[in-house]
Amino acid sequence: MDGVTVINHPLVQHKLTIMRKKGTSTAGFRRLLREISTLLCYEVTRDLELTMEHIETPMMEIEAPVLEGKKLVFASILRAGNGLLEGMLDLVPSARVAHIGLYRDHDTLEAIEYYFKAPEDVSSRLIIVVDPMLATGNSSIAAVEKLKERGARNIRFLCLLAAPEGIRTFQTAHPDVPIYTASIDSHLNEQGYIIPGLGDAGDRMYGTK
Ligand code: URA
Repeated sequence: MDGVTVINHPLVQHKLTIMRKKGTSTAGFRRLLREISTLLCYEVTRDLELTMEHIETPMMEIEAPVLEGKKLVFASILRAGNGLLEGMLDLVPSARVAHIGLYRDHDTLEAIEYYFKAPEDVSSRLIIVVDPMLATGNSSIAAVEKLKERGARNIRFLCLLAAPEGIRTFQTAHPDVPIYTASIDSHLNEQGYIIPGLGDAGDRMYGTK
């Protein structure tokens, strides 16, 4: 699928299978989510630009590569997106973090923003929007819209599972935003759950069901 990178590293796929199992405990799910998000972060940052810096090793002076540009921003869609943050911050501790809270108005079905906090200068940073599940795509589309309204231009979307329906809707709204996922599952059911999926990601990571 154009614009979608499926991260099929064996460790990612193995951990994802354990996360899908209904018998996996809340503690186990959270630990695996932290581990898998580190691996996903490695892949989503694979092509970042480098620049050369003059450094001194104990042996000699050299030009050595460092990341170019401003610090990354990880933008979490509340609440399940937070589950991906810790593992990603383990790998990129200096990243800035944005939080985006949205709820759907029952009458208009519009995504209403109830919380938004991000660095001021999102226009000059790479933003990696994170949410474990790309299901209908409604909340991810709205989150990216909110970031674009504040000037963000360089955005990637990272999730654990994606439904084909969600990918199509998201790409129609934001064709400029590449999607990274560990799996494209079969379809959405009538309640908007990803099939076969892993259930409600927020409930599974926080033990709320
Ligand atoms: N959100 C979830 O947590 N799970 C799904 O299957 C779909 C949306």
